Amino acid sequence: MVEERRDFEAQEEKRRKRMKLAGYIAAFVVFQTLVIVVFALVVMKVKTPKFRVETLRIQSLTAGNQNSPSFDMAFTAPIRIKNTNFGPYKYDATTIDFTYGGVQVGQGSIPKSKANMKSTKKVDVPVTLSSSALTSTSGLGNELSSGVLTLNSQGTLSGKVELMFIFKKKKSTNMNCTMAINVSTKTVQSLSCK
Ligand SMILES: *[C@@H]1O[C@H](CO)[C@@H](O)[C@H](O)[C@H]1NC(C)=O
Ligand SMILES: *[C@@H]1O[C@H](CO)[C@@H](O)[C@H](O)[C@H]1NC(C)=O
Repeated sequence: MVEERRDFEAQEEKRRKRMKLAGYIAAFVVFQTLVIVVFALVVMKVKTPKFRVETLRIQSLTAGNQNSPSFDMAFTAPIRIKNTNFGPYKYDATTIDFTYGGVQVGQGSIPKSKANMKSTKKVDVPVTLSSSALTSTSGLGNELSSGVLTLNSQGTLSGKVELMFIFKKKKSTNMNCTMAINVSTKTVQSLSCK
């Protein structure tokens, strides 16, 4: 009778241990699955880097008037390439076109480089603009009489986001910014990027 009872208890103990082990394994599998899902959703998801210009640092600006509309301008364009990925964004050299009324009036160059993971690469680009390329200056005349010059900057950056040192995904990103410059104070009054 006592023997039987002891036997039963030993069996019961073994069963409990097996259940416990199975519980641990199940918890581990759930945990692993969660880790993989989070990894796939957060780390391996490739987001498009953001490409934009910040407020121009204007060195010189000379502008004509309504009767003889023209402008010449020199500035530093602070370019920002924001990379929110968990890996570097390596991009090729490119140019940024500055346009007035849809006509290119100047250009800036960005050399090939990279934006590190979760960071913003800053590139200061020197640019000179001139209205000499404009074929029609009537719109410019009106703008200058109101004291504002509206410029647009456009560009495309192409490159690859690298994840875990091995996975590479091609990503290109566009800049399209519009800015209004106060001619008398030579300052940027507004700036918006798409
Ligand atoms: C340019 O800036 C000055 C000084 O802030 C301001 O008085 C003037 O109204 C501005 N011009 C335009 C066209 O906004
Ligand atoms: C840039 O944005 C302007 C409007 O702000 C739009 O008219 C123009 O087509 C855009 N250019 C590109 C290349 O997307």
